[in-house]
Formats: sequence, C-alpha cells, structure tokens
Amino acid sequence: MTVSIKTPEQIEKMRTAGRMAAETLEMITPYVKAGVSTGELNRICHDYIVKELDAIPAPLNYNGFPKSICTSINNVICHGIPDEERILKDGDIINIDVTVIKDGFHGDTSKMFTIGKPSVVATRLIHVAQESMYKAIRLVKPGVRLGDIGAVIQKYAEGERFSVVREYCGHGIGEVFHEEPQVLHYGKANTGLKLAQGMTFTIEPMINQGRRETRLLPDKWTVVTKDRKLSAQWEHTLVVTETGYEVLTLRSEENFGRTEAD
Ligand code: MF3
Ligand code: CO
Ligand code: CO
Repeated sequence: MTVSIKTPEQIEKMRTAGRMAAETLEMITPYVKAGVSTGELNRICHDYIVKELDAIPAPLNYNGFPKSICTSINNVICHGIPDEERILKDGDIINIDVTVIKDGFHGDTSKMFTIGKPSVVATRLIHVAQESMYKAIRLVKPGVRLGDIGAVIQKYAEGERFSVVREYCGHGIGEVFHEEPQVLHYGKANTGLKLAQGMTFTIEPMINQGRRETRLLPDKWTVVTKDRKLSAQWEHTLVVTETGYEVLTLRSEENFGRTEAD
C-alpha cells in the first residue's frame, strides 16, 4: 500500500478545495426546507460550484454518477441521487455530500439536515454520528493508527446501541477523489497503518439506527439500510499536521477540537 504524502504546496491547494466544499454546504443550508426537491438542491449547488467558485463538482459523471451532489434521505445510507420528484417533507433527515475539485485537488464533506421536527431517535442518531466523527478526528496525529480511528467510532456508536456500516469507508484524497488508504469506521485499536504528517484523508462514518446491513437499489448507486431504518453520516477532509490535525472542510458553525472537551 502506498499512501501519498502531500507537500506544503499541495496542502495549500487542498485547503482551498476543502474551504470551497464547506462553503457550498453553508450556501445550501437556507434552501434545505420542506417543499424543496433534491433535484433543486442539486441544481443550486451545481451552479454555485461552477459559476461562483469556478470549480468542478466531482460526483458529476464520476463512475457514471448522474448528478453533482449526493442527497441521502432517511433510510438512504449514502450515494442518493438528487431527483426532481423527491420533495423534502416535515420529519425527513437528509445528508448532503459535496465534493469539489479546485486547481486539481479535491475537498469532500457532508452534513445532516433535519426538516421540520424529526423524531427523538432521529435527532439522537444524527448527534451520535457527528460525535463519532469528532471523536475520531480528535485522535488524529502522527503515529496514531487507522485501527484506533475505527475503534473509537465503533465503540462509541455501538455503545449508544446503533450500528456501523461496513461496506463503505473514508479514503485518502488529493488529486484523486478516492485513493489509499481506506479509512474504516470500525476495527481494533493499535492495528493498521500509522498516520504521518502530510497525509490527507476523509473520515465519514455511516451510523444506522438498526442493523448495519446495506442494500444497493437497482439504480446501482443508492445504498439503503436493509431493515429500512434510519441512517446518518457526516464527513470531513483532514490533513495530518506535525502535532495533530487540521480539518480542511470546517464550517463556521463548528467549534469542536478547540473549546469543547472530549
Ligand atoms: N462523496 C462521496 C464520498 O464521500 C462519494 C460520492 S461518489 C458519487 O466519498 F459518485 F456517488 F458521487
Ligand atoms: Co468521501
Ligand atoms: Co463525500
């Protein structure tokens, strides 16, 4: 396995791409309301990325994916395809996953949104998924191993009586959308690759309300929970620094890792 180490110049380009992906999530937030279709959200993000950011939406035509963002609602785990016919309604939960390419480098990030008043369990699932990602991010520094990251996510999520999706994982990222290493969201502490300064990768746990098993819909993209219960996901792109980490896709609403205790 060869994991690329980015130069300071490459990391600066990753910073720009990461910031643009985060800005796209911030831009779309006021539109994520009951009555809007996911097709419309896709169009607004596409136009913003292309026209305002002068960047490229990485999902469009990636391995044949037909749209510019992924929109995954309720029992959809990931890779949901935006659709003019799917209108958001009160109680829905939705993940919007944005990946932009700027100056040849990728920034990849996603967040959960709630429409109107979601159920108590939906709210808790979303919180646990986000907190599992934050717990993993806070571990990141040179010498820490990938198994430590997977273990902290699995231990926390399963301790909350939720389950961790196995079939999809985080990934190295740079000039290539998905590169080595694979960043599993489950595993054993003290195993796997040791992190080193200059590595760039995503952490993007998919946490299920019920069982962890997945099913792929006939469209060959949409991944759903086998038991049809809810799933939640959050994603950040980060770089390993000399002493820890830098989150390249941080939004202004976030303040973890600085003021908050573990
Ligand atoms: N953004 C997703 C990820 O986090 C990948 C989407 S691939 C697509 O890795 F083709 F579905 F867009
Ligand atoms: Co990703
Ligand atoms: Co993504």
